[in-house]
Amino acid sequence: MLTTSLGDGKIPLDVCLYNASGVHCTTQEELDQLDQCKYTGAVLTKSCTIEPRLGNDHPRYYDDVFGSINSNGLCNEGYQFYSSWKSKQQKKPYIISVAGPTVEDTCTIISECSNNAIFELNMSCPNIGKGSGNLAYDKEAFQEYLRKVTESMGNESLYGIKLPPFWFPEQFDQATEVINEFRPTFVTTCNSIPNGLLIGDHNKVAIQPHDGFGGIGGRYIKPVTLANVAQFKKRGLCSIVGCGGVSNGRDAFELLLVGADAVQIGTAAMSPTGLGVFKLVASQLRRQMKAFKCEKISDIYQLNK
Ligand code: DHB
Repeated sequence: MLTTSLGDGKIPLDVCLYNASGVHCTTQEELDQLDQCKYTGAVLTKSCTIEPRLGNDHPRYYDDVFGSINSNGLCNEGYQFYSSWKSKQQKKPYIISVAGPTVEDTCTIISECSNNAIFELNMSCPNIGKGSGNLAYDKEAFQEYLRKVTESMGNESLYGIKLPPFWFPEQFDQATEVINEFRPTFVTTCNSIPNGLLIGDHNKVAIQPHDGFGGIGGRYIKPVTLANVAQFKKRGLCSIVGCGGVSNGRDAFELLLVGADAVQIGTAAMSPTGLGVFKLVASQLRRQMKAFKCEKISDIYQLNK
């Protein structure tokens, strides 16, 4: 019932839910746990760089009832670790998120990973000054990045692009033009809203790096995610993975209603329930589907026609 695929069947997913990059996907143990989780359809890694990075000083992540703020600073084990991690089950697609953060580093990482790796190109990390963070807002820079990066891939490579949130119709038109030119297998929309600010109970900014500014995720951003999925769907894009603000089955159902093919969960999987959230969301999503007489994921979008 929850089966879906990205890229017209090229990336089959037994379950339409999986983790957002950055959440429970940095270490061997975390990836192994995602691999074993029965309620996710893919394993997606932390966005990687050439060298391992410790990331920013703590506290660098904070959440409240409405969502989260982070400025983790690309803490990761380096691309070689992610390119050599092996699924013990061999059942789910394994997707390597690539941060770069420079175009040159992204090309190096891609050309060194195996030919049949699937990539999610992170063009939207809000927590690095220069690099891929806001590239997708600039048409020429976006094209140039994808031109170079796709040249370093095999012709048959499967890849997606993790987009930042867009706001205005012209931005969606412009991004769609670039995406249609390069035809990725999927886009993931969207990354956290950059440069937000949350105040903690101690009356100070909630996280330490960058004077407290960081990427906002969780329930705060669900309307933005819904709008981004809907705007791209309207423009007839490739497969769409919705990401941002999903913490229950109804949230996932709504993203599928506006045109997502699969749904990632970030902030809600950082809660004490951890990966348990996938079981909960999967069962609530099944219940929603039964209530609205949907037998398969693609029936949900039809309800909104
Ligand atoms: C980080 C945050 C992001 O939103 C992202 O897409 C990649 C990395 C980070 O700060 O580690």
